[in-house]
This record gives sequence, C-alpha cells and structure tokens, in this order.
Amino acid sequence: MPYDRESDAANIQDNLNCVHTGSVVVFLPEIDSTNNLTKTYLANGADEGLVAVAESQTGGRGRMGRIWHSPPETGVYLSVLLKPPVDPDHLPLFTLLAGVAAVQTVNEFCPHSASLKWPNDILINGKKVCGLLCELVQNQGEPSGLIVGVGINVNHLPDQFPEDLKNIATSLRIVNDSLTDRLAVIRSFLMNLDREYQTYLKEGPRPIIEKWSRHTDLFGKKVSVTRGPNVIIGTATGLDESGRLVLLRDDGQEEAFDSGEVSLRTS
Ligand code: ATP
Ligand code: BTN
Repeated sequence: MPYDRESDAANIQDNLNCVHTGSVVVFLPEIDSTNNLTKTYLANGADEGLVAVAESQTGGRGRMGRIWHSPPETGVYLSVLLKPPVDPDHLPLFTLLAGVAAVQTVNEFCPHSASLKWPNDILINGKKVCGLLCELVQNQGEPSGLIVGVGINVNHLPDQFPEDLKNIATSLRIVNDSLTDRLAVIRSFLMNLDREYQTYLKEGPRPIIEKWSRHTDLFGKKVSVTRGPNVIIGTATGLDESGRLVLLRDDGQEEAFDSGEVSLRTS
C-alpha cells in the first residue's frame, strides 16, 4: 500500500512524543535521496528533528557511493536532521548510535534476532535488512547538521530485489512471511533514535558502544578489512571509545580501523 502522504505525516507527528526527532515530518513521492533532500532543508534553515520520508528513491546512496535499492511501497527510506554539539571526529559514533536504534526497531518487528555488522549494516541470518548512512554537513569548517539516513527492507518479496542483491538482501516480510505496517516501523525508529540520542547527550559515547557491542556477533570472529589496495586479516576484538573497530591482526599487532576508510568482510 502506498503512503497517504499528508495523513501519514500528521499521524507520525501526532503520536511521537519525542524531544529531538519529528519536529517536522514530510512525506515525498519519488525523489533522488532523502539524505540529499534533508541537506537542502538544512541549507534553507530547517530545525533539528526534521524527518524526510520518501516512497521511493532514484539515487538512494550507501557508503562509498554505493547504491541503495529503493523501490516504492516496500521499504522505509528516511532521513532525520540532528544538530548535535559534536566535533566531526564523533561522526562514526552517530552511525553506531543510529545502528542501535535501528536494530532495536528491526528486532521489535521480527522474532528472529537481527545483528549489527560494523559499521552500518543490520543483518538477519547473514542477509542485509537495513543500512545506515550518516553524513555531517559543515559550513565554513563548522558542523551545521548531521543527517541520519536509514533504509529498511520491510515488505519486499524475494523477486523484488535485483539479481545482484537476491543472495545478500532480505526483508521483514521474507523473514516473517507477513506484511508489516511501514508507519509503525518509522515511528519505532524515530522513538528509538530519540531515546539513544538523549542518552548520548547526557552520558556520552559509552552507552552507545556498550549497546552496539551487545547486538553484534562480530567479536571473536576472523575478519578481513580492505583499506585501499591492502587487505588486513585478523580477529575482531571490540570497539574503541571512538567507535573504531579493533582488530588483533594475524601478525600479533592490535590496530583500530576508522569506518570512513575501510570495508569489512567476515570469513
Ligand atoms: P561495507 O561492509 O563496506 O559497508 P556493504 O556491501 O555493506 O559493504 P554498504 O555501502 O554498506 O556496502 O551498503 C551498500 C550495499 O548494500 C550495496 O553495495 C548493495 O550491495 C547493498 N544494497 C543495496 N540496496 C540494498 C537493499 N535495499 N537491501 C540490502 N542491501 C542492499
Ligand atoms: C548502506 O548500507 O551503505 C547505507 C544505506 C542507507 C540507505 C538510506 S535510505 C534513506 C537514506 N537516503 C539515502 O540516500 N541513503 C539513506
């Protein structure tokens, strides 16, 4: 079922009761990317808490310029504008914070437990159900806003994924064998994000790192990290206080990796 854009926006906004998310909720038909649109709203003076939801995206983006498949009437594609008092070095923590909110949401709607894959993926049975893209916008060197973008595969059937995603993507519908109300998913994510963000503002990064670590099965596993032309192999041991992935390399050295520069594969 497509969104009823006006009544759904009102419905979300009226039932949220959040401090930082949902100050304005806009539903759009097909657009390029909700992250791009939110950047435009920010440039035009939007306040913290604006939420942009799209029925479909023609240029949905993942990390490192990858494409996020965003067909209509199936997935949730949304971006939230936050204005945290952070320096740009904290950006990786926000991907983890949004990941904690998203994994809580996926687990609320899906009895199978979802897990986080560093830095920005949510998997069920090893297949991707959700991805996050957080982007910091700077104005003359100063951060002016943080855009939290999330894509959740909700009501896709297997044949609604293109060939190259069929073996690596899943949806709540595929796992549950039933439809899920996209508005309920949106509401849940916005409330979870709001709560985790409030905790971060009060208590700093530690609770994010702890919660993220509870929702991953990565630690103790052998992984390979690709950085430019180099592949580093080791065992993932945890996250450091900046949200970097710590690896005990096969040569015995410990190294922490920044999400901006690497891709991770479990072997
Ligand atoms: P990394 O581990 O480096 O993050 P990744 O394959 O997870 O690698 P991302 O940039 O995080 O890459 O995510 C984008 C990738 O997600 C795309 O390359 C594509 O393979 C996959 N993808 C695109 N659209 C969807 C979707 N709707 N559902 C699941 N996976 C998708
Ligand atoms: C990833 O897995 O690399 C991240 C995918 C993030 C997709 C969401 S959909 C809403 C928002 N708009 C975008 O263009 N990307 C994010």
